[in-house]
Amino acid sequence: MKISALISLVLLLMPSAQASQEGKSLFESLCMSCHVLSGQPTVAPPVFGMKNHVMQAYPNREDFINYIVHWVRQPDASRALMPGAVRRFGVMPALSYPDDQVRKVAEFLYDTNLRMPGWYRKHYEAEHGKTPRH
Ligand code: HEC
Repeated sequence: MKISALISLVLLLMPSAQASQEGKSLFESLCMSCHVLSGQPTVAPPVFGMKNHVMQAYPNREDFINYIVHWVRQPDASRALMPGAVRRFGVMPALSYPDDQVRKVAEFLYDTNLRMPGWYRKHYEAEHGKTPRH
C-alpha cells in the first residue's frame, strides 16, 4: 500500500482532533454493549445508524448533543427518531449516566466520521427512499 493511502486510512479511523479520546472510551464502555460499531445489530441499531438519524433531525452540533443527552436520560418512544428500531428492539432503557459523560460521548459521535457498511446504505435506502448522510 502506498504511504499516502496508509496515512489517509489511519486518519479515517481516528476521531478528528476535536473529538476527545475520553468521549471514545466513554462511548465504548457506556453505549457499545448495545450499539455495535461494526457487524450486524442484535439488541439496538448500529452506531452509525443511530448517529445518522439524529444528524438528519439535528444537523447543528449543539442541537445534536442536547438531543442525545436528553434522550439517554429520558427515552420516549412517542418522540423517537427511529420508530422502526423501537418496533424491532423496543424503546431504549433510560440510563442514569452523568450528563457530562453523555455529552462527551455525543461530542465524539458528532465529530467522528463513522464508516458505514454497504449493507446499511441499502437498508436505509429501502426504508427511507434516500441515501443516508453521515
Ligand atoms: C441497553 C441497551 C442500550 C444501551 C446501553 C444504549 N442504548 Fe441507545 N438505543 C437502544 C435501543 C434498543 C434503541 C432503539 C430504539 C429507540 O430508538 O429507542 C436505541 C436508540 C438510541 C438513539 C436513537 C433515539 C431515537 O430518537 O430513536 C440514540 C440517540 C441512542 N440510542 C443513544 C445512545 C447513547 C449515546 C448511548 C450510550 C450513552 C446508548 N444509546 C446506550 C439501546 C441501548
